[in-house]
Amino acid sequence: MSVVRGVDRVLFGGDYNPEQWPEHVWHDDARLMAIAGVNTVTLGVFSWSSIEPREGEYDFGWLDRVIDLMHAHGIGVVLATPTASPPPWFTKAHPEALNRTADGVQLVHGSRDVYDPSADAYRAAARRVATALGERYGRHEAVVAWHVHNEYGSVSYGPATDRRFREWLRARYGDLGRLNEAWWSAFWSQRYAEWDEILAPQATQYLPNPTQMLDFRRFSAEVLLECYREQAEILRALSPDVPLTTNFMLPTWLHFDHWDFGAEVDFVSIDHYSDSPGVEGAAHAAFGADQARSFARGRPWLLMEQGANVTQVPGRMLVKEPGEVIRTSLQHVARGSDGALFFQWRAPLAGAEVFHSSMVPHSGPDSRAFREMTELGRVLGRLTDVVAPPEGSDARVVTPRVAIAWEPDSWWALESASLPSDHFSLLASVRRAHRELWFAGVSADLVRLDDDPAALDAYDLLLVPSQLLATDEQAAGLDAWVRRGGHAVVWCFSGTVDADLHVRPGGYSGAFAETLGIRVEEPHPLPKGVAIAIEGGGSAHDWTEHVELRGASVVTRYAEGVLSGEPAITENRRGDGVATYVSAELDDATFTTVVTSALAAAGVRAEAPGAGGGVEVVRRHAGSGVVVAAINHTAETRTVTLRGTPIDLEGGADGADGADGPVVDGPVDLAPGAFVFLHEAPSPA
Ligand code: GLA
Repeated sequence: MSVVRGVDRVLFGGDYNPEQWPEHVWHDDARLMAIAGVNTVTLGVFSWSSIEPREGEYDFGWLDRVIDLMHAHGIGVVLATPTASPPPWFTKAHPEALNRTADGVQLVHGSRDVYDPSADAYRAAARRVATALGERYGRHEAVVAWHVHNEYGSVSYGPATDRRFREWLRARYGDLGRLNEAWWSAFWSQRYAEWDEILAPQATQYLPNPTQMLDFRRFSAEVLLECYREQAEILRALSPDVPLTTNFMLPTWLHFDHWDFGAEVDFVSIDHYSDSPGVEGAAHAAFGADQARSFARGRPWLLMEQGANVTQVPGRMLVKEPGEVIRTSLQHVARGSDGALFFQWRAPLAGAEVFHSSMVPHSGPDSRAFREMTELGRVLGRLTDVVAPPEGSDARVVTPRVAIAWEPDSWWALESASLPSDHFSLLASVRRAHRELWFAGVSADLVRLDDDPAALDAYDLLLVPSQLLATDEQAAGLDAWVRRGGHAVVWCFSGTVDADLHVRPGGYSGAFAETLGIRVEEPHPLPKGVAIAIEGGGSAHDWTEHVELRGASVVTRYAEGVLSGEPAITENRRGDGVATYVSAELDDATFTTVVTSALAAAGVRAEAPGAGGGVEVVRRHAGSGVVVAAINHTAETRTVTLRGTPIDLEGGADGADGADGPVVDGPVDLAPGAFVFLHEAPSPA
């Protein structure tokens, strides 16, 4: 069974916005959906003004008819609460509940997401419309999941935010003395004497207080979670059999703690839009998929949105090449998604996203985009077996042996303006590590270090890219895992500050210093464009450090400048494990060497001989078996070694059968853009 209620097929379809069209078009939609093999639509995401045209007055007639139409065609409905886009009446009635930017500008409707998530009037209106929807459709057979809100991510700096921020701070610190200490508020005369002196960090004269900024990020993430919880509580009561999700915008949504949200939804869902075409786009899709599965703690998840063809992103248009959308969808499915859904079904004729991709584009069904959708529907229709949840005690849908640390606190802390270099970005560092693994043919999970220290035992290698902020617990968990035999690679500037953003005195990398067997005495940030040679022909840029050995041995030294002859990369044998430290930002070739050496030392190989360099091989656990996917994203024929029974992907989406097999056991040639799925374990009779 898939992540949604009662569906045991790979979910295929997309956001459907019938309120933008006259009713006769709906019937054409249903006809085309049947041709494409669509089995799932997401309804109502931005329908608030159609559902509640005036405050407290509901119009459900159109929605009743659409849901019934979908149901009659065997299409499941993921029903959204429309709370991401309050209607114009909301601005008029509740001006105090609109968001205010950090510069003090009061926003009004005219786009979407215009509300202050802390405002009581917004919360009440959101609860009301969620209740009305839950009461009306909570037990409707067609509803297979609830899609709460859309891409939580709003942040505001108005009076309602100030009020809730203070409450959150009181709960975190208890008394002002502790807050003043955490915020180091004696600096620049910021000591607070009363709670109501505290404001959200709006525009100010010069550098803001970094701990206040970090706390505000933590608070804003918590507020969004509160908004979700309020609706979830209502829907769970009114619609107890229907699972809940909310779509995460990946991977850049900053005001959001994906781990916390992942723990509360019934299943994780994500929206993924490529940042590049071709093979690099495939690496990016794999990153999004691995993030989603990690935030789902290894369970199956759902690709709620992706672009069908043209992605309309401000300043950038990406067109998917022929076949690319099929390969990308299959990547997501291989990496644990129970479906491939799109934004959106039919292209609107106007509106802010008029040129954004659609399954039925402006040119209509006689188009490459629609033909590819039909082809994709057919292929996904042949992959029903993959949606069986994995069996067994370690019921992870994909089981990588490598993990990358991802900690929102460090993400936010590295956004601070008060750092010795503006070079650092946790997202960019994590992405660089993931990309390197992907090109090596290795899948990875993301982990939060203190989630469950024993969870690290699932991995042989852990990459820790510039985790600036580390708690004592995180450091102890990492150290214990290394001593138990783990291999860790830790990048520069990690472990430097504690949870209050206070520097750990005695040397940078303080939290991890013992594990790494080093002391970082002083950072040596480099001016932009300057590269320093290191031994072995590589170079360092942006960041270097003066590292003192405290038990570790030298792997590579700086070969020029004031640090010439000093350690650049070190290795510390500790207990049964090894901890490597990389004290600089490295050129690409040296970065590759560091990662591939760590993989070799930890005994991790590519998923199959021939995987890597743009050929993706992933094992998805499904039921009691394993389905292996191999996808060639390159423009050349490539050979991978595989073993299993190929799934026949040529049969019709109507279930017309094709015989699986014959069994392969050895090299398989994959033409440019070709893919194959195999049952690694024998198929059930
Ligand atoms: C997001 C939103 C959609 C749409 C797409 C377009 O993912 O959820 O409503 O705006 O982006 O890129």
